[in-house]
Amino acid sequence: MLYFPVSEPPLSPTPDALSRLNRWVLSSLGVSFLVMSAGVFLDTGATGKTALFSPSGVEGKKVWNENNCMVCHQFFGMGGYLGPDLTNVIDRLGPETTAWVLRNGRGSMPDMNLSDADIAALVAFLSDMTTAGTFPQKSWPAQWFPTANKNGDDS
Ligand code: HEC
Repeated sequence: MLYFPVSEPPLSPTPDALSRLNRWVLSSLGVSFLVMSAGVFLDTGATGKTALFSPSGVEGKKVWNENNCMVCHQFFGMGGYLGPDLTNVIDRLGPETTAWVLRNGRGSMPDMNLSDADIAALVAFLSDMTTAGTFPQKSWPAQWFPTANKNGDDS
């Protein structure tokens, strides 16, 4: 049997390097703690999100409330049930047809004698509403993850 006398390799990492690592880990944890604490205490809570409603949309919401549109209509399925849900009505009808319905009424939708300014504000309000979400949802139950095939089942 061949035997090569080799000197024993040094411990790796050396005890000295280990304690340097320990000190490094500990101090970076300490620094992270201070940075995060500072972040929590200095956070103003502002999210930086832009307002949902445009100025004319805010006007339209007042007109909406004054005329009790909610008695017959819903947003996101909530409201009265004589008329249809209006969450995405602008996508469905477009602004011109929506304005036409508001001016003339249609079927059981009364002509409410709204002024041109009221109608423009309501159209702005309904346009803002559609950016808030989709109703009814396109699929139920809601799918949080993409499915393996586009049929949405195991076929
Ligand atoms: C008395 C109940 C009632 C009130 C109050 C009412 N609506 Fe309607 N609205 C209806 C009905 C019913 C329809 C469906 C008309 C039809 O079938 O042609 C409708 C239709 C509409 C449509 C068209 C929807 C679509 O999908 O075709 C819009 C837009 C609309 N209403 C907006 C409003 C706004 C804005 C107000 C408040 C200013 C309002 N409505 C107040 C009953 C009402």
